[in-house]
Amino acid sequence: MTWLITGGAGYIGAHVVRAMTEAGERAVVYDDLSTGRADRVPDGVPLVVGSTLDGERVARALTDHEVTGVVHLAAKKQVAESLSLPLHYYRENVEGLRVLLDAVTAAGVRSFVFSSSAAVYGMPDVDLVTEETPCVPMSPYGETKLAGEWLVRATGRAAGLSTACLRYFNVAGAARPDLADTGVSNLIPMIFEKLADDLPPHVFGDDYPTPDGTCVRDYIHVVDLAEAHVAAARALRAAPGRDLTLNIGRGEGVSVREVIDRVNTLTGHDRPPVVTPRRPGDPPRVVASADRAATELGWKARHAIDDMITSAWAGRQHPHPPTTARP
Ligand code: WQD
Repeated sequence: MTWLITGGAGYIGAHVVRAMTEAGERAVVYDDLSTGRADRVPDGVPLVVGSTLDGERVARALTDHEVTGVVHLAAKKQVAESLSLPLHYYRENVEGLRVLLDAVTAAGVRSFVFSSSAAVYGMPDVDLVTEETPCVPMSPYGETKLAGEWLVRATGRAAGLSTACLRYFNVAGAARPDLADTGVSNLIPMIFEKLADDLPPHVFGDDYPTPDGTCVRDYIHVVDLAEAHVAAARALRAAPGRDLTLNIGRGEGVSVREVIDRVNTLTGHDRPPVVTPRRPGDPPRVVASADRAATELGWKARHAIDDMITSAWAGRQHPHPPTTARP
């Protein structure tokens, strides 16, 4: 059985490819390298460079590599960018998925794991978010992930595809320094950026209804997230006709101020943050109930916030090769 992993040259994708191959699964990466890097694809794993919008190319990849399962990670994922470029996000994340699903059903692929997001929940007002919590996305990015789930589930029911929609919470950390997230659009890398410039980290509002007034999130180590994909892929292969929707989080909340304090301590800095105005659209608290993933997959996150911070920090020190060519 070969898994086609779209977006497998990206930050999360590279960790999923690593986890799948280390678990003995055969993989082929399909990536347009718009943000991914070819040097993240391990030796021995074929790389097909292309967009999921290119139906012919993806169909050829499915047949050439005798693909029987797909893990679809390729997507645009910046909330703020989606607000200014909604049609770009709908084209890439929804139309790209539709074209892929067309090719997947035509090729007789049996299993489909879809990268969804906690952004589908929008502004949940519950202590722990379950998969039954109403989905009211607050950004075009979150809307495209919810629409993506609808496409995946409907196609699964119509074509007898076994599907799993994995709702990622806040992903951080790295398995190795060279696989660290090079984007700077989330809290931990943004703190690093400030510290690297000898500037205080910013807290986007400290007047939220939370214990210390700052927003609370559920941070999940990318290695744990990748292992959840292996567990989901194997669950779909083992029992055809599955239709899973799962939160992938730790089930524990950490506040912005707590993250900043841990980063200062773990990286040897002492830079108290400055409080700036709230960022529009930020929910006070988004923390997963991860019970269903434990029940359905036997999966549970193993790494704590300190592991995420120290492994991400080690990645910052690692100079990335200037080229995206494979080694
Ligand atoms: C976390 C908290 C900020 C930077 C989004 C998507 C989600 C997922 C992760 C893809 C917020 C605060 C941040 C800073 C701060 N992406 N913050 N100072 O917004 O929870 O989630 O990215 O799936 O789907 O919705 O993540 O890391 O941007 O922010 O105070 O310099 O940190 O206000 O409360 P977010 P984030």
